[in-house]
Formats: sequence, C-alpha cells, structure tokens
Amino acid sequence: MNRVHILNHPLLQHKLALLRDRNTGVKEFREGVGEIAALMFYEATRSLPTETRTVETPLAPAQVQVLSGKKLAVVPILRAGLGMVEPILSLVPSAKVGHIGLARDPETHAPTTYYCKLPPDIAQRQVFVVDPMLATGGSAVDAIDYLKQAGCQSITAMHILAAPEGVRRLQEAHPDVDIYIAAVDEGLNEHAYILPGLGDAGDRIFGTL
Ligand code: PRP
Ligand code: URA
Repeated sequence: MNRVHILNHPLLQHKLALLRDRNTGVKEFREGVGEIAALMFYEATRSLPTETRTVETPLAPAQVQVLSGKKLAVVPILRAGLGMVEPILSLVPSAKVGHIGLARDPETHAPTTYYCKLPPDIAQRQVFVVDPMLATGGSAVDAIDYLKQAGCQSITAMHILAAPEGVRRLQEAHPDVDIYIAAVDEGLNEHAYILPGLGDAGDRIFGTL
C-alpha cells in the first residue's frame, strides 16, 4: 500500500512558489505556511470516519455526517512545525497539541531532542505530526519513534517540502505512517538543506535569519 501522498494541487503549488522566493518576507512566508498547512490538512483528513446523525433544519429533519472515531492531536516538530499548528486548529479546534523539540546538529545533521510534552491521552488519538521540511528524514523518524513509544498507533506525517532521501528514510522506518507532502525536490546540499528548497523554514517563519 502506497502511503506517500504528493499533493500536486495548483493552489498548493502557487503558494509554495511564494515560499520558495527569497524575496518573500516573514509575514507573507508565515501566512503562506499556514495556508498550505490548512490545505494539506484538508487532504490528509479525507478518510477520517464519520457517523450519521439527525439534525432539525428550519424546514425538516436532515441526515448529516459528523466526525467519529478517534479524537485528534496535532504534534509540531519545533520550531518550524509551529507555523502549521494554528491554521489546523482553526479547522479542528478541539484537537489537542503536543510538542516535540528537535534541533539538527550542524555537522552531523542528526537531530537531538530538547523538549517533549504530549497530551496524556495521546495514545488514544489520531496524531498529525507537522513540520514544513523533511530533509534527511532524521527529525521526523525520531519524532514518530517517540510518539510510538508513547503508545500512538494512528500517525500521519505532514511536510510541505521533502527531499527524496527523507521520504525514503521515513517510509522505511515507519511504513505504517501516511505521509502527505506538497512537493518533493531534487535532493540535499552538503549541509543537508533541500535543493532548490526554500531555505531554513524556522528562520523564515520567525525572522531569525
Ligand atoms: C529543520 C526542519 C525539520 C528538520 C528537517 O529544523 O524544521 O525539523 O530541520 O531536517 P531533517 O529531515 O534532516 O531532520 P531545524 O533542526 O533546523 O530546527 P528549527 O525548526 O528550530 O529551525
Ligand atoms: N531544514 C530546513 O529548514 N530547510 C531545509 O532545507 C532542511 C532542513
């Protein structure tokens, strides 16, 4: 079963073009990340289960579909993942939020964990891990390892931009995880940045360049 979903949608690609542009400022970059996150979340939740209910419209009873099944949690990988959280919460306001803080070592590019805080009932929730960038894949793999150790069984990963290496690594480490990506680029440079990419997502979201 192919769990990698590349969302080749014109709106997403248009907004991604804005993020890639080096002349895009912090405000527009942050807004663009949020808009893309909401569009991706719309696709990533397409198969959430629903159940039938009846409501009274002003004219007659109507059979309606409402979300059922597991409650949701959004888990950003800090820092850049934070830029994807609020727009998702605007669609699912009752979702809980966990945080996993990972930073890549500039030499080895391996992530180290500096913060983790998850909702106590995370194991019972459908979890959406969000991080704009999937480069070597090390951060996403470690974050999902941690979520599985916490008992999570239903995990979806959402990344705006990926390198082929990162997609392969994440798929191999976690073949049960659905992966949603807006675009897969050519590869990585010697600093493990995605090429052509969009630069450092965290720095561009928070203006720390
Ligand atoms: C970036 C990005 C991912 C990670 C991707 O975070 O937001 O978390 O790198 O790289 P990987 O797939 O090779 O692990 P970074 O470590 O730069 O931290 P930041 O979000 O605080 O800037
Ligand atoms: N992290 C980023 O923010 N950008 C990259 O290209 C790779 C990792």
